[in-house]
Formats: sequence, structure tokens, C-alpha cells
Amino acid sequence: MIITVTMNPAIDKTVEVDKFQPYALNRIRRIEYDAGGKGINVSKTIHALGGESLAMGFLGGNTGMTIENVLNARNIRHDFIYVDGDTRTNTKIFDCVGGVTELNEPGPAITDNQTEALIQKIRTYTDNETLVVLAGSVPGGVRKTVYAEIAECVHKKGGKVLLDADGELFRLALKAVPDIIKPNQTELEEYAGLDHKLSVAELMELAESLCQKGIQTVAVSMGKDGAVFAGENYKINCPALPVKAHSTVGAGDAMVAALAYAHDRKLQEKEMVRLCMAVSAGAVTTVGTKPPDRVLVEQLMSEVRMQML
Ligand SMILES: Nc1ncnc2c1ncn2[C@@H]1O[C@H](COP(=O)(O)OP(=O)(O)OP(=O)(O)O)[C@@H](O)[C@H]1O
Ligand SMILES: [Mg+2]
Repeated sequence: MIITVTMNPAIDKTVEVDKFQPYALNRIRRIEYDAGGKGINVSKTIHALGGESLAMGFLGGNTGMTIENVLNARNIRHDFIYVDGDTRTNTKIFDCVGGVTELNEPGPAITDNQTEALIQKIRTYTDNETLVVLAGSVPGGVRKTVYAEIAECVHKKGGKVLLDADGELFRLALKAVPDIIKPNQTELEEYAGLDHKLSVAELMELAESLCQKGIQTVAVSMGKDGAVFAGENYKINCPALPVKAHSTVGAGDAMVAALAYAHDRKLQEKEMVRLCMAVSAGAVTTVGTKPPDRVLVEQLMSEVRMQML
């Protein structure tokens, strides 16, 4: 089973106006709502691939209930912890000249007791067939060691962990040796303390050094330049698929979903890489963080060319 953890979910509200004008009345032409937050995006994509997951994390207030309704409508299982305050709504204002204005709420602060309750809940669901996906930032009140703590707890019960985080959260979680990680190029360069762009060969070297620390699969995504993958017995460089990009937001989450699905279905590494490249390229062709459908993914999978190093 795959569990996705979203500590700071959001309702993603996308609105369209003619030309956005600050300090003025802007009339909205179109509004769309969706449930968001990295873990929830991963759950949505796993579902679009025909897989199953259990979405967990914190929700609050009416907006929290809306997220549960969206997940119910999509047949995505969930078991969230309810907290005081409202789950945030993140608003993206698109205008016809191509400008985007974003308004992100902070979301409710979380207490130590609530964090503890979430860790316990994850523990009760975990067995040796479980993969826990830890993705995204954490809300105020949550200690930066939380992903490391969850990873240790999951490992004690024989489960596995997939990590997609950055900065301090990423650095601290690596100490608990997650099983799969998907940093993007910038996140990995920052982790290594470098302020210049690394070559593919240098990224691969870094990925391999992380594997040597016990991480089973390291996928480093490089946006339109593709991705590199390293595991115990393989090194693969993959150029991105030439698709018409609509929105690259959530391409990384799509790759995380593919990694989780591939692990759950015990796919071989080449099939895993093929799926990662196809799902993430498919995601950039869709609006916002909408997952690509299975037919498009299968078509794109046949177009993936990989270079074994
Ligand atoms: N313009 C593009 N064309 C084709 N594929 C793309 C493009 N941008 C991204 N991808 C695919 O998506 C993958 C992940 O993208 P990226 O490295 O931007 O993730 P990210 O920075 O973690 O994104 P986010 O966290 O915002 O979801 C890439 O490795 C690539 O396969
Ligand atoms: Mg990312």
C-alpha cells in the first residue's frame, strides 16, 4: 500500500481575469477549484495510473471538508487528522496577457500533540508492504525533524519511505536514510552546498554517493533537461520527452507518483524510468497539477529513450 502524507494541504483556486490590476476591482471570468498539496497531488496521479493510495495529513475547517469531498469524489482513500483553523486556499490569478499572481495562505499551525497523533496514525497503517510518501513543506509548529522521525518509525515496522522535500527538511530526513528520493537539480545542488549549476556527470556522481549511503533509488529531475536515476546496479540518464508544455507546476509530483507506483508494482528499473519520464512529461501537457490520463502515459512511455551509463 502507498500512503501519501500532506502536512499542509490546500485548496488550489484558479481564477481568470482579463488583465489583472492591483489596487482596482478585478472581475473574475472563470473559477476552478481542486484539492492540492504535494502528497494529495501524488495520490491523484497514482489514482490516474490505476493505482491506489491512502492520503493522510492535517485538515481543518470547511476548506478541509471540501478537500475530503474532492477526494471522495475521486475515490481516493483518506484518513486525515482534523485540527483547529481552516486548511489554506491558494489562489492563482491568471490574466489574458499571460501574467500569474499568486496569493498563498499560511494554513493552520500544528501542535506537538497533533504531530505525534499523525506519526502514530501512520505507524498503525504501516507494515512491510507499505511505502510512505513524504512530500512538500510542513506548516508552522511542525519540527523540521518530522520527516526523519516518520522515516525511522516506518522503517521500524518494515515499511519504506519516498522523500520529496528540500532545504533543512531534506537534509535532516536523509539522516534516516529514506529508500527513494527525488530532489530536483537545484535542491540537490543546495544540499551539496554548491551555488553553481552541475553537469549531468556531476549530478550522477552525487546521486551515486547518496546510493552508497543506503538509499535504494535516487531520481534527480532536471526540468526540461530530463532526469538522471541511480540505484545499486544502474545509472540512467534520460532526456525529457518533447511535449508541448502547458504548465510545469506539479511535474515533480507526477514523477514522485510514478516512482511510488513503480515501487508498489515492483517494476524493474528500466520500466520505472520509462514511467517516470512519461508521467512527468504528461503532467506538463495538462492544466495546473491535473494528472495525465493513462492512454497518454502509455503513448509517451513508448517514446522514452534512455542512456545507460
Ligand atoms: N518542459 C518540459 N518538457 C518535458 N518534460 C518536462 C518539462 N518540465 C519538466 N518535465 C518532466 O518533469 C520532471 C520533473 O520536473 P522538475 O525537475 O521541474 O520537477 P520539480 O522541480 O520537482 O517540480 P515541482 O516540485 O514544481 O513539481 C522532469 O524530470 C521531466 O521529466
Ligand atoms: Mg519538486
